[in-house]
Amino acid sequence: MKHLNRLLAIAVALIPTLMCAKKAGTVINVIPYPQSVEIGKGAFKGAGANFNCDPAIESNCVKLIRDFADKMTFISGRTNSFASPIGLSQAAAEGKMKGFIFLKDKSMGPEEYSIRISKKTCLVKASAYNGFLYAIQTLKQLTDVSIYSDKVAPSQKFMFPAVTIKDNPRFGYRGMHLDCARHFFSVEEVKKYLDIMAVYKLNRLHWHLTDDQGWRIEIKKYPRLTQMGAFRNGTMVGKDFSSNDGIRYGGYYTQDQMREVVQYAASLGITVIPEIDLPGHMLGVLAGYPELGCTGGPYEVWTKWGVSDEVLCPGKEETFAFLEDVFTELMQIFPSEYIHIGGDECPKKEWEKCPACQARIKALGIKGDGKHSAEQYLQSYVTARIQKFLNDNGRKIIGWDEILEGELAPGATVMSWRGVNGGIQASAMGFDVIMTPNTYCYFDYYQSENQKEEPLAIGGHLPIEDVYGYEPFDGLNASQQKHILGVQANLWTEYIATNEHLEYMLLPRMCALAEVQWCKSENKNFERFSASMKAKSFELLDVLGYNYRKF
Ligand code: ACM
Ligand code: ZN
Repeated sequence: MKHLNRLLAIAVALIPTLMCAKKAGTVINVIPYPQSVEIGKGAFKGAGANFNCDPAIESNCVKLIRDFADKMTFISGRTNSFASPIGLSQAAAEGKMKGFIFLKDKSMGPEEYSIRISKKTCLVKASAYNGFLYAIQTLKQLTDVSIYSDKVAPSQKFMFPAVTIKDNPRFGYRGMHLDCARHFFSVEEVKKYLDIMAVYKLNRLHWHLTDDQGWRIEIKKYPRLTQMGAFRNGTMVGKDFSSNDGIRYGGYYTQDQMREVVQYAASLGITVIPEIDLPGHMLGVLAGYPELGCTGGPYEVWTKWGVSDEVLCPGKEETFAFLEDVFTELMQIFPSEYIHIGGDECPKKEWEKCPACQARIKALGIKGDGKHSAEQYLQSYVTARIQKFLNDNGRKIIGWDEILEGELAPGATVMSWRGVNGGIQASAMGFDVIMTPNTYCYFDYYQSENQKEEPLAIGGHLPIEDVYGYEPFDGLNASQQKHILGVQANLWTEYIATNEHLEYMLLPRMCALAEVQWCKSENKNFERFSASMKAKSFELLDVLGYNYRKF
């Protein structure tokens, strides 16, 4: 009896350990974490399982599913056969089907999906391309990380834990920005950037293509933009603003290359939003077309970082004709609903002295007031004219939060970058907003306080915990919240010359950003996220060949 009691006591003492072991075995390491997760018992073997695809699913979605099946077949060496049987949904509902089952569920939103995995089936439902894409991204994170590799591994079973997932993003706009003006990144590098965005379910690339340090877009009507504007005579060294390495630097994307990027991004569920930053940040234009500046130049593509005082001259009609021509070609390349027109950091010194600008101010009857100068209202005039042109062509504008200074016409979307205040103000005024506050979303900032151990960065301090901790609705009432389209992080590349460095600044902070963009705040948990990064995502990044910072 005494012996039995001792055994019982040991068994009782072991209960918490055993429960923990069970719990530890059933964690799912999916980032961004799905909206609803119910863990089941057992696992489904993917290697060699049949794929059954609803005939109602569109061919572009079927291609996604087939690629997933083919990848598993290639790695495991066991064929995942593919069929589209009529009456599949009925058979699945009656539990008569085994294997992978993909169904179209028209009641779901475009980015929504569900997955139900038991020992015998893996049932996926979605209504549209991004939903199927995200279901597959989640499935890939649920199984062995070798699913991301190109290496054959015949013993690989591709087990999927039994789980029921219902998922839908918090925000429709989940962006990442890339500055290819300060440093140029090749089409292949941009595609690799898009690849990792897609793994973490981001859906907008904000492509910063023009600046004082380089113009990167082929525009057929204005060849000097790329002959002259795409190259600079050297680059400052480190943080020494008086230096110049003397090495000619530059590059640009042909229209065909940009179309290729747009198409590639679309296959990953990502819309590319191009930015032409105006009326400041324009030396890339003025170098080749000096007549569009207030003084007529000469101008040179800048070799140092910062913001040039030399900007476009809105006093001249030629400036608007030029911009309309450029946007006309741009719209033929980028089908996005939104075009970003910049608007940030436009010094007004030249406009104050320029007879054409002052004549325009007079003709328009613009007057400075206690809030804004006449020149600030002149920038509002530029914004409004370009907005009207783009609206007339079926597009909408996004601008940095400076476009709020002066007057802003209805329909513009404001990108809040100088902290969150621009977003708070714009949403209170009824404008749609994309939150990209430098306080949480500037990935050109240092990732550690110990700057000496980090690669050179612009400054600041933005550790992954701070990115993760961002709550986009802070400080906003319910009606303002409705105007928040989403969140984006920005990656300016003044101090980032190589792809390796670019990836290091991006990752893993972008994984944290993905949860800010996707997860409801109650589903966020830094400890779970961090454990998940360590258990799965670092290995995933290794297999895919990304450089990243460990934490
Ligand atoms: C910005 O960072 N100048 C938008
Ligand atoms: Zn002028």
